[in-house]
Amino acid sequence: MTDHISITRHDKGVVLVRMNRLDKKNALTGDMYDAMRGVIENAGAQGTRAVVFAGGPGVFTSGNDIGDFIARSSGGGASPAFQFIKALATVEVPMIAAIDGLAIGVGTTMVLHMDLAYASPRALFRMPFVDLGLVPEAASSLLLPQLAGLKKATEYLMLAEGFGAAEAVGMGMINAQVPEAELEAKALEAATKLASKPPQALAHTRRLLRGGAAALRERMDEEGRLFGQQLMSDEAKQAFMAFMTRK
Ligand code: COA
Repeated sequence: MTDHISITRHDKGVVLVRMNRLDKKNALTGDMYDAMRGVIENAGAQGTRAVVFAGGPGVFTSGNDIGDFIARSSGGGASPAFQFIKALATVEVPMIAAIDGLAIGVGTTMVLHMDLAYASPRALFRMPFVDLGLVPEAASSLLLPQLAGLKKATEYLMLAEGFGAAEAVGMGMINAQVPEAELEAKALEAATKLASKPPQALAHTRRLLRGGAAALRERMDEEGRLFGQQLMSDEAKQAFMAFMTRK
């Protein structure tokens, strides 16, 4: 259990998962990944019909905790991040994101797996994997070119250029830009609507829309293998230390 993830049950089986480690810009630790994975993996057993992911004011998440990357680069064992990411590809209930502010690394790549997503005008999406000596994750190397086209995906994943809510709407990564004050209500409203639909028809439709999970899992495995190799590399270790000692 961690205090850095709060889980609130709303009507109709809607669950709000809030990342809540604001002093570290919601950088995700292993415990936080495990708590979020628990919600989506146990959705069926717990009567969960839709899951909303949110952060705090101005920050969805700054991505994986870089201290955790350092621990893993010296042989930290199986990664809760990777297990969470794999669960995103196989979850059976709709997921909705409410992104206010920073959405870095997995903060962006997890949005690719959402059924619906809304972001505030101050949202900033960024995937600085290469700058950190790493490679893309969460099948973003497959999904992003499909959404944005290869050249734009190259800007995002190789140049590590950030983009805002308008650009995310333009490429179909999110549904709409919604003012901060209305963002969570909008996501909860959409979740409640989905949770009120005939569940079997919804689940079949969701599966048909997304296609099989096999291609996603295969890409995640390939990314995961390279990610693991890169974590041990000198270029990654130097990038992590540069972040940790930047102040
Ligand atoms: N891992 C660990 N700690 C992080 C973090 C991360 N991903 N992101 C932010 N933090 C910590 C900072 O170290 C700082 O801690 P401190 O107050 O103990 O020094 C605190 O959160 C606030 O961050 P700070 O950098 O001071 O805020 P900022 O507003 O100037 O910048 C970010 C915010 C997110 C742009 C910047 O922190 C950043 O670039 N973080 C790393 C993002 C990243 O590369 N994530 C991995 C993606 S794969």
